[in-house]
Amino acid sequence: MLKRGLFITFEGPEGSGKTTHAKLLCEFLRKKGFRVLHTREPGGTSISEKIRKILLDPKNKGMDVGCEMLLYMAARAQIVEQEILPALEQGRIVVCDRFTDATLAYQGYAGGMSLKVIENIAGIVTKGLKPDITFLLDIDARLGLLRAGRSKDRMERKSIFYHNKVRNGYLSIARKEPGRVKALSSTGEINVTQEEIRKAALKICR
Ligand code: TMP
Repeated sequence: MLKRGLFITFEGPEGSGKTTHAKLLCEFLRKKGFRVLHTREPGGTSISEKIRKILLDPKNKGMDVGCEMLLYMAARAQIVEQEILPALEQGRIVVCDRFTDATLAYQGYAGGMSLKVIENIAGIVTKGLKPDITFLLDIDARLGLLRAGRSKDRMERKSIFYHNKVRNGYLSIARKEPGRVKALSSTGEINVTQEEIRKAALKICR
């Protein structure tokens, strides 16, 4: 058992397979005897899931980027306080699909909001919590959108130009923080990618 919890996040453009990889990693870690909480952002609590519905509803296509950024942060404040911090205090491993890097990539690099402002607000709502490791599953934006399927939510309906900026934003974050962010191509064999993820995760679990 871990004395202190571990916080692992998965990031990537649309259709990058991060949820599949997160699930496989959780199963693997549970089999190894770790206590694992798998959750997602935006969401993971009943309040945050309600905010998610507003954010992803295609009917809200006129949403301002400032409104969007603050709603993602509001959902984050709730899940950090209600789920993530208590689980980490209990020594659990928390695996989360998306976290603050998503706000930097989507609302910052692609949406044009100041990265500094996003970092400052994130610092407040997360109480300074940062992932111990982040797996960035990289994929060509157009291919990812194709993989994501036909019934598109409000974010997936944004232009290919926007989604290319999201991808490049994520790659910039990975370049800035190579110690924390492990970038992996999402187009290779699923088993090979998962093996790399498991190895890197186990290294920090010990
Ligand atoms: P999901 O598809 O990974 O469940 O995430 C929901 C969408 O919300 C996805 O398009 C990425 C987007 N998103 C942001 O734009 N900013 C954020 O801070 C987060 C967490 C997600």
